[in-house]
Amino acid sequence: MSRVVDTHRHVFGADPAGVWSAPGRVNLIGEHTDYNDGLVLPIALPHRTSAACSPRDDDLLRVWSVQTDELVEVPADAVGPGSPAGWAAYVAGVLWALREAGHAVGGLDVTVDSEVPVGAGLSSSAALECAVGAAASDLFGLGLLADDEARARLAAACVRAENEVAMAMTGGMDQSAALLCRPDHALLLDCRSGDTEHVPFDLSGPASGAGYVLLVTDTRAAHALNDGQYAERRAAAEQAASELGVPSLRDVDPAALDDALARLSDDVLRRRARHVVTEIDRVRSAVAALRADDLPEVGRLFDASHASLRDDYEVSCAELDVSVEAARTAGALGARMTGGGFGGSSIALVPADGVEEARRGIREAFAQRSWTEPRSFVVTAGGSAHRDS
Ligand code: GLA
Repeated sequence: MSRVVDTHRHVFGADPAGVWSAPGRVNLIGEHTDYNDGLVLPIALPHRTSAACSPRDDDLLRVWSVQTDELVEVPADAVGPGSPAGWAAYVAGVLWALREAGHAVGGLDVTVDSEVPVGAGLSSSAALECAVGAAASDLFGLGLLADDEARARLAAACVRAENEVAMAMTGGMDQSAALLCRPDHALLLDCRSGDTEHVPFDLSGPASGAGYVLLVTDTRAAHALNDGQYAERRAAAEQAASELGVPSLRDVDPAALDDALARLSDDVLRRRARHVVTEIDRVRSAVAALRADDLPEVGRLFDASHASLRDDYEVSCAELDVSVEAARTAGALGARMTGGGFGGSSIALVPADGVEEARRGIREAFAQRSWTEPRSFVVTAGGSAHRDS
């Protein structure tokens, strides 16, 4: 916290009006379902992105990043599709989207500092958007942190920033997680209705024996959501829904899946649709298993989700597959890739007393292949965006 304040003072020559922060996330299950009107089940990470901010009396945005040591200046009227480029789009895009939603939003001096690893599939971009959105809400009196309904509107503005300024056609899971998650709970979000439930996420409870932990592995395999593959999956899912004559794949009854698949025009669409429909169903099962403290079942669902993402949706990669296999070999109840895929991170449900074994197993599997050393860390479910000081 003091680093972001000190840097702000140094770069902008004055104390910030305040500091706001928002978390990264891992999704427990429900991958590539958000843009299909489906269900997702993320937790907020303890890792957060901080934004020290001061309002300006013009409409200029000046933003400094501690991670890149770089100052970007953008007047409000220069913000649009693809402009500014790079990480500043997430900051400028949020102010733009709030203005588009009719809010009176002025300029800002912003210093950002992030603990959320960038490019690791842990939603560093949503954390940045939501930290800045939280700051703008408070500094311009928008009231968008007041309750979950207001926070959902702020999340929608952050999604517009990502889709229309940063030009990444992502769904809304990451921004909802950053704004709605609660400590020690996973967020069950219905991406069609916007309904939420906070599902206790406690892996150490008495019924779980010695207890388990969630181990996240950043495979260090580069991951980008605006490189075409993500948009291609989204288009395929939309085409499958349109061939079936339904608004989205959410509308396909899992019990009637085979009939629906038989009506699709090609095998690729069949596999894409099968992933989405079965994955939405797995979220329901995972929530029931968590509520029943049935962690072996949660592990089986993780494994099934990974297989579906790897074989049917084809968004995994060698590094994710190896990290998942190595975690299982070292005793995990289950493991899967998390987030958009094509690199990024995996998660594994690991016995609390077997963490070092799992980390070592994953590290050795990567070393054997001469891959960059992965980073594994245990996470608990953190809280959403708020003002820190
Ligand atoms: C990325 C996107 C999300 C979601 C996931 C896949 O994280 O930002 O909206 O689609 O991929 O579940």
